[in-house]
Amino acid sequence: MFLRNAWYVCAFSHEVNRNPLGRILLNEPIVFFRRQDGGVVALEDRCSHRGFPLHKGRLVDDTLECGYHGLTFDCSGRCIRIPGQSEVPARAAIRAYPVIERWGLVWIWMGEAADADPRGIVDWHILGDGARDMRGEHLHVRCNYQLITDNLLDLSHISFVHPRTLGSAARLNEAQVENEITDDHVTTARWLPDIAPPPTYARFNFKGNVDRFQITTFNPPGFVKLFAGAAATGTVSDRRSFSSEGMAGDAARSRAGDVVGLYTFNAMTPETEHTTHYFWCISQDRESQGQSLTDNVFRDIQATVQEDVAVFEAQQRWLELKPEAPMVVIKSDAGPLAARRIIEQRLRREAGRGM
Ligand code: FES
Ligand SMILES: [Fe+2]
Repeated sequence: MFLRNAWYVCAFSHEVNRNPLGRILLNEPIVFFRRQDGGVVALEDRCSHRGFPLHKGRLVDDTLECGYHGLTFDCSGRCIRIPGQSEVPARAAIRAYPVIERWGLVWIWMGEAADADPRGIVDWHILGDGARDMRGEHLHVRCNYQLITDNLLDLSHISFVHPRTLGSAARLNEAQVENEITDDHVTTARWLPDIAPPPTYARFNFKGNVDRFQITTFNPPGFVKLFAGAAATGTVSDRRSFSSEGMAGDAARSRAGDVVGLYTFNAMTPETEHTTHYFWCISQDRESQGQSLTDNVFRDIQATVQEDVAVFEAQQRWLELKPEAPMVVIKSDAGPLAARRIIEQRLRREAGRGM
């Protein structure tokens, strides 16, 4: 069903405070809060007494008191108090989850705590670059998380779903697509040469046609980094200037107004088989682009994401009506299918380890 031996994003840092936050991840209810020293705690959100959600209780210093009969738990999940009795059995403990805060996001390890290795967190260090602004949203989406991955790895949908922001006229046959597929990532690079800038890019100062690029990198279970933008046609001679890490060479040296590149980071964390916590954010260079542009671009991307969410939710409902119906595979499915194969391989590996 879900990969357990993995780090997932469970919240933006700013969402976790001294009010307990309840969230279901991979069918498990989890409660998050901050200790008085600022560290983040994640505990099973289910009281060991009668199963009441602990996020409805309250923090007393660094302990969490159940809002039903007052059982109290410390940050390791140990029950330290049962009102009306002096004995507190060890089996009253609840599970504690390893968590790490990094780049404005909170990451949680859903497997055995002893296996949690922070080196397994996907490398999104660009988010931690102090010269860049990061803005994003947490969305609760009524679809399986893999529908979102599919979407981000097949950007041929842009012309049809996003004509008001990122869609150029449907010259899809001219898109040049290169896939790089390994057993732990999929990178899909799409190039649309010499094309009119779509509405969002027209906000920048392009004088004529542009060469568009979209470089998407997937890492399991549900992480997609997208580096996308445009360069004035003819200003960048070498395609290798663009990679999922950003721009180099003549693209990076290009004059302002000649080239635009934006990162979008997407973390899809399953809530259930049918619902997903979707965290997305854009990262934009503060130096080269003014604040009003950031606001406008953010609003455009936000509208774009809403259009995608409407697709996912409609698709999920229809797929549930007839889950066994076969689906036709087309050329642009190469990236999404490779990502699904990576997940299947990992699931098999976990099953083999008795997870
Ligand atoms: S359900 Fe939590 S104390 Fe009874
Ligand atoms: Fe989209």
